Amino acid sequence: MKFFLDTANVEQIKEAKDMGMLDGVTTNPTLVAKESKDTHELYSEIVEICNGKPVSLETTTNDTAKIVKEGQDLVNTYGKNSSKIYVKVANTKAGLKAVRQLFDSGIDCNVTLTFSATQYLLAAKAGARVVSPFIGRLDDIGLDGNLHLIEEIEQIRNNYKDNEEHIPNKADTLVSSIRHPVHVVQAAMMGAPLATMPFKVLDMMFKHPLTKIGFDQFMSDLGSDETLQQ
Ligand code: E4P
Repeated sequence: MKFFLDTANVEQIKEAKDMGMLDGVTTNPTLVAKESKDTHELYSEIVEICNGKPVSLETTTNDTAKIVKEGQDLVNTYGKNSSKIYVKVANTKAGLKAVRQLFDSGIDCNVTLTFSATQYLLAAKAGARVVSPFIGRLDDIGLDGNLHLIEEIEQIRNNYKDNEEHIPNKADTLVSSIRHPVHVVQAAMMGAPLATMPFKVLDMMFKHPLTKIGFDQFMSDLGSDETLQQ
């Protein structure tokens, strides 16, 4: 499974890269707003740190022609020197029309705000490179079956994965709105190829109390006072 970081915070991105766990970054207007930085500078910095790994940058309108223009501008501005930009487009009728046009012109889209298998199918048919089902937000409103959604999508994806007439641009599942490590594990067990998570979830994945107890015991038995910092 590839791990994307769901953040616009450059320090977190650098740290995940340093851990050797960074396969890409997803941003959204909320995450960008938290950084209180000039958006152009922020995007440039993120793209540079990612060094060719995919960075999702979100469009900011529901007007098809404007989404297409914004998508082209994002790719022209940040997609140079082999940087990979996925243009993030909301899963709406106007958005998916734009995704089709962007796909036809060779631009990869990440279809965001996806909450159902129906919406996955539409995005896949439109030519999405990745589709982002938001599982945590389904949890937030008390809906059961958030990971059932991933199961449904994986089944659809597998049924059609080698058929470009049905899924023209892969439409890989990028499991999103992840709240805890169990979401990541369950999505991986269902075969989802990509997950995007906040830094704190990635960090939590490293922690296990028995690893700390075991390590500290080994150190103590060696006569060392080193302890594991988690
Ligand atoms: C995905 O691309 C989104 O940025 C993200 O996963 C949304 O997550 P949230 O529900 O934690 O805001």
